[in-house]
This record gives sequence, C-alpha cells and structure tokens, in this order.
Amino acid sequence: RFNMSKQLPLRGKKVVITAGPTRERIDPVRYVSNFSSGKMGYAMAEAAAALGADAVLISGPVGLDKPIGVTVIDVESAAEMLEAVRSQFDDAAIVIKAAAVADYRPKEVYPQKMKKQPGDSTIELERTTDILKTLGTMKTHQILVGFAAETQNAVDYGSGKLESKNLDYIIVNDVTDPDAGFGKDTNVVTLLSKNGTHRPFPAMSKKKLATLLLKTIIKEESEQLN
Ligand code: CTP
Ligand code: CA
Repeated sequence: RFNMSKQLPLRGKKVVITAGPTRERIDPVRYVSNFSSGKMGYAMAEAAAALGADAVLISGPVGLDKPIGVTVIDVESAAEMLEAVRSQFDDAAIVIKAAAVADYRPKEVYPQKMKKQPGDSTIELERTTDILKTLGTMKTHQILVGFAAETQNAVDYGSGKLESKNLDYIIVNDVTDPDAGFGKDTNVVTLLSKNGTHRPFPAMSKKKLATLLLKTIIKEESEQLN
C-alpha cells in the first residue's frame, strides 16, 4: 500500500529556507557582498518541496532559476532578509539558513555615486544583525538549521555556532575542500546536532545532499514533526 506520509513526510509543514548572498549598498552603483551562489539553499528548497513541504525560499540576489513548487521571496540586504524571515517564522516547522549573510554593511549609504577624492580610501562599516541568532531567541517549536562555511577547524567552529545561536542542527562545510564551497555543484559537509551527533557526508551533488540532509533531520525529529 502506498504510504503518503512516508513518501511526503513534510506534507502540511512549512519549511523556510534562506539562500544566496546579501548585498549591502555603498551607493547607487556599488555594494559589499560575497561569493555565495545560492545553489545549496536552492537545492534545500527544491528537496523540501519534493518531500511535500510548503517551501518558502527567501533568496538574496543569485542567477538561478526559481525552483518549481516553491514560493520565492526576493530580498537584497541582510535587513530585508531579516524582515522576510521574521514574517515567515511563526508557523514554520523547519527554518534552514543557507544564506551567506554579509556580516558588515556600510555605515552610511550614499544617495549619489561616490566620486574619487584624494585621501578618501576607507569606507566605514558596521555589523549587520545576526539573523540566525535572532531566530534562536525567538524559537518556540521551530527546528532551526544553520550552515557554516569555514576554512579551518570546521567542526569546532561549527559546534560553537550551533550552541551560541541556539540551533538544532548546523551543516558545516570546509570551503577549502576541492569538492565543496561557493559556486560548486557538489559539497562535502558534516551535520552536527544539538544532541552532539556528528554525521559526515561524502562528496556529492548539492541536490542529492540536500535530500539526504533533510531526510536525516526528518528522521531524527519525527516526534517534533508529528
Ligand atoms: N548568519 C545570519 N546572519 C548573519 C550572519 C550569519 O543569519 N548576519 C547565519 C548564516 O546564514 C549561517 C550561520 O549564521 O546559517 C553561520 O554563518 P557564518 O558566516 O558561518 O557564521 P558567523 O556567525 O557569521 O561567524 P563568522 O562569519 O565570523 O565565522
Ligand atoms: Ca559570517
């Protein structure tokens, strides 16, 4: 007999995913950003939808096609991403923060294009809000999943973020691995949980990995999700 809940374990569940970089404006023609392609977050959104979820993808500026069956909310800056994700948070079952949020933004946004001037060689920056940490303080029933991109001590830094941001899971990738990181179609990650479990995944396509990661989380959270 065809078991719907097994095939579509996220049916009736809202899953919110953030993806891509954010852009922090300097002036009308320039911004501060990073190399995130959005591929991992888009793969997570597609996988969530395929598992039956009402998937909501909050996307920074990326050059990717909109995944089928997913509601997409486009944002630009960290501040806009925070607002969008807060508006989707209350009734979400799972929130996955794959976005590479810019950590800093220009303190002042110039309304006109800045002109070169002798001696003007610095832009003052300030920290953006840590979206995930904010969600960690708001969490009631939501399963909160972060990502961490590291270039060294990936698992140590990752478990530090898991704890300090009050997450349920963090997906850590060492972006120096030739099969991992920005722009690649493959990734190599370790899934850490708040219970201290530690699951390394071998190199595989981001699409395949997204499904495996979600299935692993669904299995571990079957009580919470029912
Ligand atoms: N994150 C966020 N808001 C920020 C910065 C990060 O929501 N302003 C989230 C990312 O979406 C990711 C997680 O926090 O899920 C970890 O991001 P990462 O850049 O690895 O960690 P940071 O806490 O920013 O620490 P650092 O960059 O200093 O390593
Ligand atoms: Ca960061």
